[in-house]
Amino acid sequence: MVLPVYVYGMSVLRKIAQEIPEDYEELDQLIEDMFETMHFSDGVGLAGPQVGKSQRIFVVDTTPMGNNLEEPELKDFRKVFLNPIILEEWGDSWAFEEGCLSLPNIREDVMRPSHVRIEYYDENWSLKEEVYDGTRARVIQHEYDHLEGKLFVDKVSPIRRKLLAARLNAISRGRVDCDYRIVYSKKA
Ligand code: NI
Repeated sequence: MVLPVYVYGMSVLRKIAQEIPEDYEELDQLIEDMFETMHFSDGVGLAGPQVGKSQRIFVVDTTPMGNNLEEPELKDFRKVFLNPIILEEWGDSWAFEEGCLSLPNIREDVMRPSHVRIEYYDENWSLKEEVYDGTRARVIQHEYDHLEGKLFVDKVSPIRRKLLAARLNAISRGRVDCDYRIVYSKKA
């Protein structure tokens, strides 16, 4: 089932998400719904808080970016991350233009370190520890931030932030043009 996406201004996006217990009810359904929602809205990553669940889960699928010849590994990067912990980030920070389903139509260059080491449970509760770089690291870092109550606009310069203020305010009132259902906080 495609779920509505919670957008900028909803308090769930600013909370530190809770660990998912192993007996979390309907986890399989939530995972399925999150993939469906992400695919429907043309995202490459989606975190629990974005569908109103303050839980430490995110899904990624960079298949649509798989035509990038420099990073063919994006073609089959489709994963579920449960209770992830970023153990380490390192390498030169680089700029990448990020977008977010919770910030429709906003794209900004964001600086992040190039490498990440992450520990997480997969959908079968098998513990993994992996290292990523390039765009895969970027997607992981962005989604992980959602579990910490952070959004990429927090990382842009104060000047850019100021220029975005009116658009962010409009999003929080639901005044934004996008092709998927959204949940917003303020009256229009
Ligand atoms: Ni996002």
